[in-house]
Amino acid sequence: MAVEVVVVAVVTLLLLLMSFLKKPAGLPPGRWGLPGIGYPPINRRPLDDQLAELHRQHGDIYLWRIGTQVMVFLHNYKLTREAFSRPEFINRPDWRIFKRLVYECNAGVVGSEGQVWQNNRRFTIRQLRDLGMGKSRMVSVVQQEARFLVEALQKQTGRPAPVPHALTVSTVNVLWQMVASKRFHVDDPVVFELEKLIDDTLANMTLISLPDFLPWLSMLLPWALQKRLFNLDIVDAMRERFSKFCVKLIEDHLATLDRERPRDLIDAYLLNMNENDCNSSASMTDLSKMIFDMFTAGSETTTNTLTWLFYFLATYPEVQRKLQAEVDRVLPRGTLATLEDRPRLPYTEAVIHEVHRKASVTSMGVQHAAVQETLLGDYLIPKGAVIISAVASMHHDPRYWDHPDQFLPDRWLDHNGNFNTQKEGFLPFGVGKRRCVAEALVRMELLIFTSALVQTLHFSPPPGRKLDMRHDSRNPFSHLALQQDLLITVRD
Ligand code: HEM
Repeated sequence: MAVEVVVVAVVTLLLLLMSFLKKPAGLPPGRWGLPGIGYPPINRRPLDDQLAELHRQHGDIYLWRIGTQVMVFLHNYKLTREAFSRPEFINRPDWRIFKRLVYECNAGVVGSEGQVWQNNRRFTIRQLRDLGMGKSRMVSVVQQEARFLVEALQKQTGRPAPVPHALTVSTVNVLWQMVASKRFHVDDPVVFELEKLIDDTLANMTLISLPDFLPWLSMLLPWALQKRLFNLDIVDAMRERFSKFCVKLIEDHLATLDRERPRDLIDAYLLNMNENDCNSSASMTDLSKMIFDMFTAGSETTTNTLTWLFYFLATYPEVQRKLQAEVDRVLPRGTLATLEDRPRLPYTEAVIHEVHRKASVTSMGVQHAAVQETLLGDYLIPKGAVIISAVASMHHDPRYWDHPDQFLPDRWLDHNGNFNTQKEGFLPFGVGKRRCVAEALVRMELLIFTSALVQTLHFSPPPGRKLDMRHDSRNPFSHLALQQDLLITVRD
């Protein structure tokens, strides 16, 4: 009898343990692993290759639990569009990068949720539109920055050198004239410092985000050790510097605010503001986070896209020649593009779109989170699961693209040579409810910058070398171009 009791107890315990360890029924297939640890990414193969293998194994939707985070990957365009258009997938994960990197509250646009997000997103889109985003009003501002960039690049012609800091300054300046009526001088130490903080944070993203995946580590380890292990000094430096930068901008605006004539996004926000509650979409903290979001979401993405453009032009000289020929035909020397020229620059548009596709700067989009337990396709998605669009994979999927690995701008042109925005499988700015708020501005900026640059300059690898077209593996969430020498020459 005693033996029977022990056997029953052991079997019950084993069954309980198995049900505790087993992936709950109904969830997508994939890597589940152990509670609290999940299935750690110990394999040293590039993340893109591992995702490709999981895609082959499990299909368009699968999960990978890392630490405590259940991550659901989507490799299908229609499924991604469906998910990101539904309110059940509107949240952001509870990760440091979204919620606590600089301001510890529900604020700004990129990481906020609920009513705060709705108010701020609506406000930002309206402001950018009223201030001329994608319209002729902004054209002269963008042209001025394009001219400034060409001049800056001319200074380094004839000798191999990395893409200069002037590129970041010019992309920040386009945005900053809308956000703060301000442009920075190329030698302004502030942009340099802020850019370096963003670069350091992105390059150390794996370590910085470790506590998001293994939150129990924070309970076990002394604070001093955590700071060292997770590079939290970088986060502290970012927090301190950006807070100071935003506060100074807001103070300057308050001191010169004219209620009748709001100059920019900050003025418009200040006129809307009436309280100072950290979690309200009308507070100083919220405005600071909004400024931070604009700077971080806007500068690195655009700068990185243009850096990839330089690398692709240098690597594919025949594409560069064709692009130069189109620009020479349409724009007399010294004349910069306007929005009216867009239909006459189909190849320029095609090259820019092909760079978006091949580089896939936001290679995994920006992560969403499930607000509640819900069904997606045939699967149950648990509350809090992180939803990731495998953008780079979709941008190279043969279901959507012929010869996906080749750099072929002509794929964007129809039989008559007109530019044809192919939508299926293309999502550099995301899809659905949280789609990028600045797509129209970026499209206009890239058209004017690209045509201005190739009109005067030629890009090539340093003599006898090839450019390294791999991306910087230190940041698993995006495809950052590797810093390397490039040879820029002035065209005859
Ligand atoms: C080449 C340049 C850019 C690319 C590739 C890009 C891409 C993206 C992507 C993929 C998302 C996420 C969509 C989602 O959550 O599903 C996003 C969101 C966002 N982008 Fe951009 N972006 C670019 C430039 C900019 C610029 C210049 C700004 C400046 C205003 C900006 C502001 C934002 C904001 C505020 C969001 C958050 C939207 C939300 O959460 O509702 N982006 N962008």
